[in-house]
Amino acid sequence: MWIRFVVFSFWLVLCVQGLDRASLRRSSDSSGRCQYSFIVDSPMESSCPGTSSSVETENLNARLTLLEVVVSRILDARPVTKADIKTSEMENMKTLLQDKKQLDRQIQKLQRQVQELTDERDKLREKPCPLVQTEPTNSFGIITGKDPGNNGAYQEMKAEVSEIPVPSKVPVLFKGQENAQNNAGCGELISVGEPITHQKANSITGRYGVWFQDPESPGAPYGPSTVWRIDAVGKDVRELFAYENLEQLSRGYPLKVLLLPEPMESTGATVYRGSLYYQRQRSPMLLRYDLTDESIVAQAPLPQAGFHGQYPYSWGGYTDIDLVVDEKGLWAIYSTEKARGAIVVSQLDPESLKVTRSWETNIQKNKVANAFMVCGRLYTVASYSTNSTNINFTFDTASGQSKAVDLPFRNHYGYNSMIDYNAARRMLYAWDNFHMVTYDVKLGKTSSSQ
Ligand SMILES: *[C@@H]1O[C@H](CO)[C@@H](O)[C@H](O)[C@H]1NC(C)=O
Ligand SMILES: *[C@@H]1O[C@H](CO)[C@@H](O)[C@H](O)[C@H]1NC(C)=O
Repeated sequence: MWIRFVVFSFWLVLCVQGLDRASLRRSSDSSGRCQYSFIVDSPMESSCPGTSSSVETENLNARLTLLEVVVSRILDARPVTKADIKTSEMENMKTLLQDKKQLDRQIQKLQRQVQELTDERDKLREKPCPLVQTEPTNSFGIITGKDPGNNGAYQEMKAEVSEIPVPSKVPVLFKGQENAQNNAGCGELISVGEPITHQKANSITGRYGVWFQDPESPGAPYGPSTVWRIDAVGKDVRELFAYENLEQLSRGYPLKVLLLPEPMESTGATVYRGSLYYQRQRSPMLLRYDLTDESIVAQAPLPQAGFHGQYPYSWGGYTDIDLVVDEKGLWAIYSTEKARGAIVVSQLDPESLKVTRSWETNIQKNKVANAFMVCGRLYTVASYSTNSTNINFTFDTASGQSKAVDLPFRNHYGYNSMIDYNAARRMLYAWDNFHMVTYDVKLGKTSSSQ
């Protein structure tokens, strides 16, 4: 732009001088400077001023040099013009504005996502805890009526959470020993010891639960000392915790958490020969879950069995179907319409879960706190909440005879939701108001039914 202006000026100057043609040539001189030369045609040789007019030539030369300097200065260090600044600024502004718009859009998107996640979190938080006590029967099916063993007092939320020191040493007996013992004396239950606390659940899902050890060798990777635990409060109970042994349970370090493919109902589950046996939620279907394969390997409905609150134990909790194991194998304790709520005991084939034999007793299932089997005999506990209660009834499947007994039994924490016998360890396993406890038991001499 500048060069053109300069050239134009020269051309003008030359025209004014009456010259009709002129040409401009640019070249570098020996010192590296830019040199401009003008060649001017003249109609007459004489018109070109001779040496005599050297003053004029020198004048022109001087002006040319001056212009040269200006031009070279312009070329070397062309200053940034205001217009240039404006253009680049505008360009920058444009890109910045575009970037800003894009970022704004991203921010909005992120804000929407944050809102969605917050909503989701709030929704999850609002999900009702299963222990809401405004209804006579809550979502866990707890009968909030009278406790027969406690003068009709309302027992639902008498949460006694006093700490009991974990015993430093827990008797651990192994299978070899046990079999010898079992063979030596399968007999009547003669006494139950004081409860020994092993662990306390630390969340509300553990107010009720079920825990056990396999009385017979489970499959690898589990051993005879593996402890299994299920916190049973909730709408979708599926988590099965495995602990290496009782000590690890006490310390609260699980070995593994298995996720059951079908949700579990109640606290009636048990473990036997490497399988977890349990009742499917809202169904009389019994499931056998292989602990090694981590899959359901057998299922069968328990014929005519009441479920989901029809014939529970006195504390409720949908404890209609209780699966237990003793020296003689796998049993189901439940009731049917035909039995009109009286306890029915059925022996199950541990492979197929089919009923092999059934007995009907004359004790109402909803009148007792819990029941378990020892050596083919059914025992029932009178109260789930009274501190000092008793085992007051037994039914012998070998003879079909029932009788009243009176064996003291302590509900140390005042809300016993599960009591099962372990034949290999000669212990009762119980879940009493967040606490996992065991009771040693003594059996009498071989009874007539053996
Ligand atoms: C055992 O206790 C329960 C609950 O208190 C009671 O209903 C039942 O009649 C008692 N059974 C016997 C045989 O005493
Ligand atoms: C039951 O009795 C024992 C021994 O007296 C006591 O330590 C415990 O706190 C009592 N439990 C309840 C729930 O009252």
